[in-house]
Amino acid sequence: MRLHVADHPLVAHKLAVLRDVNTKSPTFRLLVDELVTLLAYEATRDVRTEQVEITTPVATTLSTKLASPRPLVVPILRAGLGMLDGMTRLLPSAEVGFLGMQRDEETLEAITYANRLPEDLSGRQCFLLDPMLATGGTLVAAIDYLLQRGARDVTAVCLIAAPEGIKVVEDFVGDRADVQVVVAAVDERLNEKAYIVPGLGDAGDRLYGVV
Ligand code: URA
Repeated sequence: MRLHVADHPLVAHKLAVLRDVNTKSPTFRLLVDELVTLLAYEATRDVRTEQVEITTPVATTLSTKLASPRPLVVPILRAGLGMLDGMTRLLPSAEVGFLGMQRDEETLEAITYANRLPEDLSGRQCFLLDPMLATGGTLVAAIDYLLQRGARDVTAVCLIAAPEGIKVVEDFVGDRADVQVVVAAVDERLNEKAYIVPGLGDAGDRLYGVV
């Protein structure tokens, strides 16, 4: 598994405001959107391209365009939905699938309650969206889903990761597939309730105005 931490002052600044307990939902949503667009730029560095002939008003030239099949973007519901617009802004031609996953607050295991994905993902580049890589349980379950459908090229875009979660994903992936995780920051640790410290709290609640 490859880990890419987006090291950029704008990412750091926006993340600082996002973490702040006084940042209200409307600003939080806007910042998530902006951060994901910045992360999407990094996450798509290896997106597949092809050479096509283009005629400009002046001459004919070979140019680079996105190749077929289209990439697949998969937000993990609920919080990943808040990342969708930021991602598709840079990849407007992507197909969008959905995975509904929730962690059981007692066992901390990921439960899948909805899925809408193409049956065959062989040869597709897949981008999973989930803001918080905490225990890694949800992300591993989501990656497993995609691998079972034939995907071998998966990039997860997360805002904040805990070292514990990164290790769980690394151990699960091994050399089964080309998996990349792109994050804005790697934080200190998980607390006893499996929240990321310092983190930003519950991303879904803060996105959707529950707190
Ligand atoms: N999910 C969140 O929303 N926040 C955390 O800190 C961990 C998991």
